[in-house]
Amino acid sequence: MRWSKAFSKTGLLALMLAVVGIGIFFYERQYCGAEQPARYEPQQLRQVITADSKTSRTIMWQTQAPESDAWVEYKLQGENELHRVRAQGKEFATDSGTVYQQSVTLTALEPGTVYEYRAGGGKEFSAWQTLKTDTGGAFTALIFGDSQSLDYNVWRKTAAYAYSHDPEAAFFINMGDLVDNGEQYSQWRSWFRGASGLLPQIPVAPISGNHENYSLQWKPYRGDLYLNLFDLPLNGPDGLQKQAYSYDYGDVHFSVIDTQQEELNEWQPELIASQVSWLERDLAASDKKWKIVLVHRNLFRYQDGRPNELGAALLPVIDRGNVDVVFSAHNHTYGRSAPFKNGNVASQGTIYISSGRSGDKTWSGSRAKPQEVAFDGVLDQPNYMKLTVNDGKLTVTSLKQDGKLIDTVTLTK
Ligand SMILES: [Fe+2]
Repeated sequence: MRWSKAFSKTGLLALMLAVVGIGIFFYERQYCGAEQPARYEPQQLRQVITADSKTSRTIMWQTQAPESDAWVEYKLQGENELHRVRAQGKEFATDSGTVYQQSVTLTALEPGTVYEYRAGGGKEFSAWQTLKTDTGGAFTALIFGDSQSLDYNVWRKTAAYAYSHDPEAAFFINMGDLVDNGEQYSQWRSWFRGASGLLPQIPVAPISGNHENYSLQWKPYRGDLYLNLFDLPLNGPDGLQKQAYSYDYGDVHFSVIDTQQEELNEWQPELIASQVSWLERDLAASDKKWKIVLVHRNLFRYQDGRPNELGAALLPVIDRGNVDVVFSAHNHTYGRSAPFKNGNVASQGTIYISSGRSGDKTWSGSRAKPQEVAFDGVLDQPNYMKLTVNDGKLTVTSLKQDGKLIDTVTLTK
């Protein structure tokens, strides 16, 4: 009895040691050893806007190991003929280690057409996803203000609600300050996770905000991580490609301006001046019926609603370019101005919309400006906007995260 008790204790101990040893062996083989298997599963799969969504689309993704044999395969929906385009691989260092990224821009697509695609390589492919090209006609887009968050589930919830209620949305815009710290890769992972219901299906058109230009030490930072993560159109001013860019969707021309002079002054002292002349040319070159300009920082002073330094530089170009709507972000509140021209409210002019916030960060200090005819501090819950362009009408509707209407305006032309 005593002997058998001693044996059972010894046996139990040996069994436990064996289980721990086997566990360590397999853990090391999986994660630590020289023979660690490469991990090629496409992660953070995303569509990114191109200058012309009728005929092209950029697809990007990450893998956990370098992949030299990466592709996008695509076909017309419901058909079998496959096309293959080789991806361009890129590696870059982050505070979470090296990121291995792939990028493909599909070209010569048919307008108004539904495709299916998958990304990957010889080892692992993503699931098949849907890709729709621009018809050149009516469309709806989703617009999200600052998504920077302590808890990115808030951003996820805003994005998921918006897309579930407008599953036909053609693409989505994020107005900058996508993340709280632009150099911290874990925040980007959280941002991608939050948008994972949309990104494989519809392209993102992001705008860089000041928080994309903060380093881990909260110092000015060039924003390399943001610029690496989104292969945006290269049609911006020399040296500022991807920070400023433009694209068409339907009958709308969108121009994106980088407003981060404060953070980027050390590297790009002519940031605003270069973009002012570029924007003048960019707007003049477009024959689209509608023109929209997208900026992160507001063009008006918070205190009295008069144009600030940025506004003084950009408003004359916006006036001359007959821009219909300017969307801004940064102050985390929603506001819509009356038509504004030559520095004042006018019967006809540009509508300025401060887009609010899609993440969890609020700012209670913001007040309505004198020219604003609609305002909501969105302190109770986040919000988002729907842009619908159809039959000579452009409608912007702002909704709370739960769908409650804040404001809507329709322009006709
Ligand atoms: Fe901001």
